[in-house]
Amino acid sequence: MTQVRDFQVAARPLGATGLSVSAVGLGAGRIGGDEVDDRDVDRLLGAALEVGVTLVDTARSYGLSEERLGRALAGRRDRVVLSTKVGYGVPGVPDWTARCVELGVDAALGRLGTDRLDLVHLHSCGLDVLERGDVVDALGRAVAAGKVRVAAYSGEGDALAWAVRSGAFGSVQCSVSVVDQAVLDGSVAEAARRGVGVLAKRALGNAPWRFGERPAEPDVAEAWDRFRALALDPGALDWTELFARFAAFAPGVSAVLVGTRSIANLEAAVRAAGRGPLDADRVAALRAGFARVGADWGGRI
Ligand SMILES: NC(=O)c1ccc[n+]([C@@H]2O[C@H](COP(=O)([O-])OP(=O)(O)OC[C@H]3O[C@@H](n4cnc5c(N)ncnc54)[C@H](OP(=O)(O)O)[C@@H]3O)[C@@H](O)[C@H]2O)c1
Repeated sequence: MTQVRDFQVAARPLGATGLSVSAVGLGAGRIGGDEVDDRDVDRLLGAALEVGVTLVDTARSYGLSEERLGRALAGRRDRVVLSTKVGYGVPGVPDWTARCVELGVDAALGRLGTDRLDLVHLHSCGLDVLERGDVVDALGRAVAAGKVRVAAYSGEGDALAWAVRSGAFGSVQCSVSVVDQAVLDGSVAEAARRGVGVLAKRALGNAPWRFGERPAEPDVAEAWDRFRALALDPGALDWTELFARFAAFAPGVSAVLVGTRSIANLEAAVRAAGRGPLDADRVAALRAGFARVGADWGGRI
């Protein structure tokens, strides 16, 4: 039986979708590999629920993440807002076609062991695919068929801006963190004006403070470069708190996704978000620092 801990994350509306999501969501990109097994995922999900983390975000491309979550969700599906991503990876079907989205939704339903997906994102397709219309329409048909509650888009730049303005998506997912601020005054602000939900991916900026030397993974390496260039001073806060509170309370952000396979790290983010927004002076300094040093830094896909 799931217990309830003495600290809990708040729930928030996901734009105008009618869904309510925990302000901190579990990014399930870290539970698809050999380092974890079903028992770990079951424990992680249980611990997430204990502190009110009910939003879980996975994707076809996260290894065994969907399958493992599907097994861990048995008996607890109704307590979770389940998000995944499609558009590629259906054997024998070309990526980024309507058929690939149709079959991708059905396959995700099967792997996740459920009869409906709360959020399904088109996972980082370009503006050309969005403008073509067939892929967007295929996701809309999955919503009309009751397989998907909310059609969503995940990406950056021009494609994200198009998705926010299109009216075809109830929610979007994009990088928002201390090292990923490019979207804040543009697509995130526009999403807020339009009632489009925003899930902040890489909300801890891939936690670059962990590395003494430039890490090998390209996306984390870029985050590390940015982190060093910004020469941040966390003051009395620890890094998790600085990053989690910045992203969780950035205007327009509905929820932050924290990618982790560690219960302690998920709980640290929940505790941090529970301390509320950073002081306005601190936020202004972080925004000014990014504007000064990172004016050319686009959103990290
Ligand atoms: N749509 C997309 O294209 C896309 C792209 C990237 C991410 N995302 C979504 O966003 C989620 C998060 O992104 P992300 O995992 O790339 O980046 P992130 O959440 O910024 O950082 C995750 C990394 O930080 C570590 N970490 C987590 N909490 C920590 C803490 N409190 N202290 C120290 N280290 C901590 C994790 O390792 P441990 O496992 O050891 O905690 C992991 O290596 C993903 O799981 C996914 O749901 C989506």
